[in-house]
Amino acid sequence: MADRSESKGARPGRGLFIAGTDTGVGKTVAAASIALGLESLGRGPVCVMKPIETGCRMRGGRLIASDAEFHRKMLDSSEPGELLCPVRLRPPVAPVTAAKMEKRRIGQEDWRPSFDALVGRHAFVIVEGAGGVMVPVREDYLISDMISELEIPCVVVARTSLGTINHTLLTVEHLLTKGIPVLGLVFNRTGTATKPGIAERTGPGLVSRIARIPVLGIIPGMPSITRNALRRTGKRISENLISVLEAPR
Ligand SMILES: Nc1ncnc2c1ncn2[C@@H]1O[C@H](COP(=O)(O)OP(=O)(O)OP(=O)(O)O)[C@@H](O)[C@H]1O
Ligand SMILES: [Mg+2]
Repeated sequence: MADRSESKGARPGRGLFIAGTDTGVGKTVAAASIALGLESLGRGPVCVMKPIETGCRMRGGRLIASDAEFHRKMLDSSEPGELLCPVRLRPPVAPVTAAKMEKRRIGQEDWRPSFDALVGRHAFVIVEGAGGVMVPVREDYLISDMISELEIPCVVVARTSLGTINHTLLTVEHLLTKGIPVLGLVFNRTGTATKPGIAERTGPGLVSRIARIPVLGIIPGMPSITRNALRRTGKRISENLISVLEAPR
């Protein structure tokens, strides 16, 4: 595979993009874990923003973005919801389709000002993507274009179950081809409480060796997603992340 490229404007210590191999793989759980982990290591303040969220619901006359609200609650953030999630769309589909349905054209002018404002007052701004990296925001603009424009490095979140090798390698290859630095991989045992089978035990190491990208951590199946459980896992992941960020180049 292509070499890990860290040449394109990475600003370690500021922004970090949490990219997923798919929707539902655990980006929200991983982003919150890393944010809480960084804070518990004294690397805060940290906030998590979600530039675009689809499937938002009206409550009290406002569109509620549930991922962004989850992060705000977990981090006790006082940042306004509109800043943490500037583009809220109702249809529970890909951003391109949801925006078309709402007759909106969305682009970086919608989230860049929020990102810049948050970067100005946090040690880390973690940015959670929507779905996987080739999800279209417009027909000519993918989530990976958003990452390129933000000029921040990535962590890729993947599931541990069978099929993850292909999805994770494709995701990494796409990001590297676009010159986006991939700092590490986080594998998430999405909701599984059972003993890991052979695919789960061997997959992460195999992907890491082929892609030549470190595994920052494996998130266990959590019976309930609490702040303490997230922080515990996030601390280990964040220690590894900081080692990568601070390694001599
Ligand atoms: N390690 C885990 N243990 C238990 N449940 C988990 C775990 N990881 C994720 N889940 C659950 O799986 C579901 C999907 O996870 P999550 O919301 O983090 O995925 P996502 O990649 O952020 O999805 P989206 O693309 O919708 O943003 C959620 O209901 C979450 O609570
Ligand atoms: Mg999410």
